[in-house]
This record gives sequence, C-alpha cells and structure tokens, in this order.
Amino acid sequence: MTGTNILAMPFLACAMAFAGTASAQDRTTGNLLPKPRQMAVGKGVFTTTGGVKTVSTVGDMADCTFMPSWARQENAQSAKVVSYARLEGASSPEAYRLRVVADTLEIKAPSKEGFMRAWQTVNQLQGKKGVPCVDVADAPAYKWRGLMIDVVRHFFPIDFLKRQVDVMAQYKFNRLHLHLTDAEGWRMEIKRYPRLTDSVAYRPIEDWRTWYDTGKPYCSKDDPRAYGGYYTQDQLRDLVAYAAERGITVVPEIEMPGHSNEVMTAYPELSCTHEPHTQADYCAGSIATYDFLENVLKEVMDVFPSHYIHVGGDEAAKKAWPACPLCQAKMRELGTTNVEDLQAYLITRMGQFLNEHGRQLVGWDEVIASDLSKNTTVMVWRGTNRAHEAIKHGYDVVLSPGAYCYLDHYQDAPQLQRPAIGGYVPLEKVYGYVPGGDLPEAERKLITGVQGNLWTEHIATTDHVEQMLWPRALALAEIGWNGTEKKDYKEFRSRALTQVERLSREEGMHPFDLKHEVGQRPESLKQVKNKAIGAKITYNKPYSKAYP
Ligand code: ACM
Repeated sequence: MTGTNILAMPFLACAMAFAGTASAQDRTTGNLLPKPRQMAVGKGVFTTTGGVKTVSTVGDMADCTFMPSWARQENAQSAKVVSYARLEGASSPEAYRLRVVADTLEIKAPSKEGFMRAWQTVNQLQGKKGVPCVDVADAPAYKWRGLMIDVVRHFFPIDFLKRQVDVMAQYKFNRLHLHLTDAEGWRMEIKRYPRLTDSVAYRPIEDWRTWYDTGKPYCSKDDPRAYGGYYTQDQLRDLVAYAAERGITVVPEIEMPGHSNEVMTAYPELSCTHEPHTQADYCAGSIATYDFLENVLKEVMDVFPSHYIHVGGDEAAKKAWPACPLCQAKMRELGTTNVEDLQAYLITRMGQFLNEHGRQLVGWDEVIASDLSKNTTVMVWRGTNRAHEAIKHGYDVVLSPGAYCYLDHYQDAPQLQRPAIGGYVPLEKVYGYVPGGDLPEAERKLITGVQGNLWTEHIATTDHVEQMLWPRALALAEIGWNGTEKKDYKEFRSRALTQVERLSREEGMHPFDLKHEVGQRPESLKQVKNKAIGAKITYNKPYSKAYP
C-alpha cells in the first residue's frame, strides 16, 4: 500500500475512554463509506444546534463546500467548540484527524484536501441528534482514486458530470478521468482546429452498434439527425474549477496514435493515406502529426491544470504504417523494422513535450514500451504482468484491470439487465479486488492507485451511466481509501445498501437496485449437462489475435 503510514499518527482513542461497544460502533459506522482506516466510537454526541465557537490556527483552510452550515454559525455564548489545526507529520495531504467529544469537535489536517475529507466523514457521521463522539485517524491507502467516464461513445452534459463529481467527492474519490476523443466523436473545443468540433463531434446515427456497422459516418451540428456534441473550453474550465473545489482533479484523455478515426476524417492529411473515413491512426512519420498533437495538447493544458495528461496509447492497429513512406523513413532513422518501436517513439516524444510544460504523461499500459520519464503514470487495464513491467521501469501504476474495474460489464444476471459490453462484474467481484494481489510485496507497495472505467458504447443515457457506476464505484472507493486489507463483503454490502438507498432518495440518482440483485446464474457456477459438452468447435470468424 502506498505512502501513508496511518500509524505514524498517534492514535489516542483509549485516552478518550471510548466505550466502543459493538452496537454503538455499528450504528455509527453504518453510514461511513469508505470506512476510515482507524476509528473508535465513544458515548454521546456533539449537538449541532445553537451555534459554535470556532478556534482556528489555519485561517480559513477548513472552510470548504462540504462544511455543514451549523459549523459556520458562530455563537460566542456557545459551550461547544469547533477547532481546526494543522496536522503535522502526515504522510498524505489528504490525511486528517477528527476527534469529537460532547463539547468539542476538532479537525486537524495538513491541507485543504485533508479538511475536505474530514468534513466528508463528519457529514456521513452526522445523525438527527448531531455528530457522534468518535476518534478517527484517517488517510488514503492510495494516492489516485479515480473514475473514468467515456463521454465519446455517448455524450453527457456538464451538469451531469458535476453531479457525479458531487457524489464522487462524498466517497473521497480524487480523480475524474474524461475519455474525450475517440472514433465516435471529438468532444473538446480546440480553437486552432475547428473541424474537430464542426465536422466530427456529431453522428447521424444514435445507436452505437448500428453506427459502427454502417461505416462510422459523421455529420455537422446542423444536420437534423445530429447526435453527440462537444464541450466548449469555458464549460470544461467551469467543470475543472467545480471539481477542484471538491478535491477532485479532472484528467483529460486525448487518444493517440490510435482510436482517432474522427481526426483522420476531419484532417485526413494527418493519416498515412490521406483518405478520410478509412484510417484510425495518426501517421507517426509525418511532421504534421507532431505539430497537430502538440498544438492540441497546448490547448488541453491551458484548460486542464491537471499535472496528469492522458494520451491513451491503447489498441493502435498501425495498419497503414508498414506501407507508409514517412513512417518507414522514421523507422529507418530509429534503426527499427518494428512498428511498435515507432509507436514508442511517438509516445516518448509526447511525454517529453508534456514534461517540458511541467506536466506528466498518463497512458494505458501499451505505453510501457516507450522511454518515458520516471513517475509517468501507466494505467494498467490488462494483466498484472503489465504492472510488474511498469514498476520495473520506475513508472507509477494505476490499476484498472478489465476483470474487476470495467464498470461497463454486466453487474447482474445479464438476461435481466440492459445490454452491456459483456462480462460479469458484480459488486462482490469489484469489492474482492486486491490491487496488485499477485505482485511481490515490494512491488505492491509501489502501486499509486485504482480506477474504475465506464466505457459507454452501450450506455446512452445518464440514468444508465449512474446505474452502471453506482454502487460498484463504492467498492472502488472503499478499496482506494481504506485499502480493505481484511475483506468482509457482507459488512460492506450492508453499507453499500444504505448508500444505494440514500443515493436514490437524497441525491435523486439512479443506482443499480442492489437490494434486488439476482446474482450469478447457478448454471454458470457448476457445469450442467448440455449438448455443447464435448462437441466440435468451429469458428465462423477467427477470434481477434489481440484478445485470445
Ligand atoms: C482500453 O480498454 N482499451 C483501455
């Protein structure tokens, strides 16, 4: 587990003579998600009516969006004190210490983020009578706790993203990764290249499968069939500021060199063949490609202050590169005959460009082959062997393996769910994920974070997005913050049920109805007699070599 040694903070619960009976503990912790790393529950409550006296040695650092209104109600006559101080020696800026007794609520944190996380805990603890007496010493297990939302396959409004940010913040997530570009449409205004939003941000066919199977057509915004859209830079700046106020960094992803059919249609001169509607990849030998990508990234960096800029890097087919004179010339210059080396060159060059501008590259695990600076973040979406390789290179690793963290997979018996991409990743499976569980201990300690990914090929509406995200994202919030070194699914599920109920009742969201989960089909757990057993298998269409 990274960074934070929670035990570095002296935990004084016993000095506060806490009772901590099992039932008091259950009543108090039932609303907490993620569970704090260390917590003791005492007797009594800090009442939240009648105003408080504030004592602060950190100025207004504790004042944030999550601060409850009662904590702002100054009353010099009040016997109740709320005090804020700096937490010294914390190993994470998000760490905090919260002590509540009947007449005092004290929060210590090393930074604004720490105070935010503390208030989120206070808000979850607060009941009708007030805040129960507790002693909490808390800090995140992982530095990066993210969710990715694909706004390309289907496009979702900024206000909807803000609502997800509100809820993510309640569960102490700190990264919202936006997949902003892909074949289905370019979603960010780029002032220097208006065709990206004028001609390839909309498509005439809403249904993804039909669109995919009918030549991937695009249309202009004025076309009566236009489906899709893009965010203006001002809208994105607004979202970034909104998220930052809630302790969340928005990480933009601009795909390269593959997954770029839309760019190759708007600006065909960036592909090897210069033919619109036929190419998915940038020409990696052409100066025009590097100029374009650098100009785009400059505008991206201008809008997104995030230290981390995601450049995709996954699944580039590179089909035209072997026959392209410019790619071949570049490969000769690099002394290679392997197109993978050319991709590594492109990614390395982009990594250097970002570093020159004080930023750090993030990429899917295909970028490991590049020669990137240490602390480049590799997002591992395939097997753990990729995490091992990335760690060997000195890269930071965020784990988001398909088998546990792809929230576009079915979460319940598929025949009862709306169509999904496939797979079966119910809440229990996500919760059961042990980040780096099959890595040596020394490598496991170096993992930077965990992330859930929501690809949206089959997810066209905002309520469906919410249903796929929640409550499975809660399991990732729990793993990312608490570490869940000791798993207890039954106990976690009961807290998740409370949150599902709260999300629909108080937040007006559309979480999956966990209470009525059907679960695994029994026949998938035990082989049953059927006609396929032992029968000869013929593939009508060979399987993809990329996914054996
Ligand atoms: C990915 O799922 N292609 C990152």
